[in-house]
Amino acid sequence: MEVVILAAGKGTRMFSACPKVLHTIGGKPMLQRVVDTAFSIGASQVHVVIGFGADQIKDYFDDLQGGQNINWLLQEEQLGTGHAVQQAISSIDKEDPDNTVLVLCGDVPLIRASTLTQLLENSDQSSVSLLTLTTEHNHGFGRIVRDGENQVIAIIEEKDASAEQKEITEVNSGIMAIPGTRLAGWLERLDNSNEQAEYYLTDIVALAVQDGCKINTLTISDENEAQGINDKTQLAQLETHLQMTNNSELMEKGVTLRDPARVDIRGELDCGQDVEIDVNVLFEGKVTLGNNVLIGANVIIKDSTIGDGSEILPNSNIDGAKIGEKSVIGPSARIRPGTILRSRVKIGNFVETKNAVIGAGSKANHLAYIGDAEIGENCNIGAGTIFCNYDGANKHKSILGDNVFIGSNSVLVAPLSLDDNSFVAAGSTINSDVPANNLAVGRGKQRNIKGWKRPTKK
Ligand code: UD1
Ligand code: CA
Repeated sequence: MEVVILAAGKGTRMFSACPKVLHTIGGKPMLQRVVDTAFSIGASQVHVVIGFGADQIKDYFDDLQGGQNINWLLQEEQLGTGHAVQQAISSIDKEDPDNTVLVLCGDVPLIRASTLTQLLENSDQSSVSLLTLTTEHNHGFGRIVRDGENQVIAIIEEKDASAEQKEITEVNSGIMAIPGTRLAGWLERLDNSNEQAEYYLTDIVALAVQDGCKINTLTISDENEAQGINDKTQLAQLETHLQMTNNSELMEKGVTLRDPARVDIRGELDCGQDVEIDVNVLFEGKVTLGNNVLIGANVIIKDSTIGDGSEILPNSNIDGAKIGEKSVIGPSARIRPGTILRSRVKIGNFVETKNAVIGAGSKANHLAYIGDAEIGENCNIGAGTIFCNYDGANKHKSILGDNVFIGSNSVLVAPLSLDDNSFVAAGSTINSDVPANNLAVGRGKQRNIKGWKRPTKK
């Protein structure tokens, strides 16, 4: 089975410089969803027909390292869906009697692998299988026309349909499975003598009937699966549908969502047992939550793992981090890429971490920047501590042993190491190493000036 994905259209109604199929749904471009689905059902080749924004589309897939698996075909002028499939015909295997060509649309992103597998079950070299839907909202779709014996005889596009045909509620999803040995012949016979002067792929149905082929139909029960996206309203509607589907699955697995309408997953979320997620939470990329994890309101988590029993308090932002068990983050913490927190770590309000490995039981409870650091166990980073990791040209590392105490408002100028049990007096600027068990005081000595007068207003 080979797949041809149609994605050359401009998507005029998106009013965007970005090709329509690169607009995202659930955090992933629509076309990427369709390509992933095609590979997941075992396509031997995936051909993608592109036109508008072709380079932008290819660059996107090349960056993902997924571009090399796709056979890209350029349709310079968009002369219709039949003409689009024709661009792929020279790469399609026309000899193998078992080859079926499945046509998908790059702008129908939520089509399920299971539906396609079902559609392909009935396909052979003497039949065409159509994925259809029955809907009162038939506007814009091609109508499925049946004869007196209820056999499909043609698909008529809305613009070419008679008033009577327009009443038909059984419509073409745009997805069909065609015998590989016959496709080329039918495509050659297409003409564009229709209302839109386009070469319609849908016209091969009548040709197949002429050639004595059977037309199978599979009717989709969930309209959203066959919903194409033409504008930002449809994009938002399908996004909402996808989010509700994801969130229902989470709840079925036992995750507590305070309000499923206010949790968004733009990627993949794996949850352990007894996870609770409050409102306005956004997950991006790949996120894993262990057992008994609590996520507070207004939290954003991207590409991170949160260990068992950890709590992420409201308004925190976590990206590219590995957080161990029983840790408490936030409220209002910013955890940036390269952060690894071992168990029972506490990161409090207005603390930012970046490339920092923080040992078990260590704390930074308020107002600190911890960048390029390795911190041992049971350390205390006082309020206002800044790890100066950047000298304007290069980044440097600070290494703290176990039980190190950094007094409030200290500046640690890296590269630096502070050994076990060392102690930094509050308000210090530390720019040389501190040996184990030492107290480091790095600040001007206090003077009290007797009889000093405050300035007065002139
Ligand atoms: C098409 C079907 C219609 C079906 C509907 C479902 C035809 C003639 N009509 O109509 O029966 O009900 O989809 O949504 O097939 N494309 C190209 N090159 C082209 C033309 C289109 O790549 O020259 C791509 C588009 O980018 C899009 C897809 O094919 O991804 C469908 O094209 P579109 O113009 O949206 O088809 P409809 O007129 O909606
Ligand atoms: Ca069209």
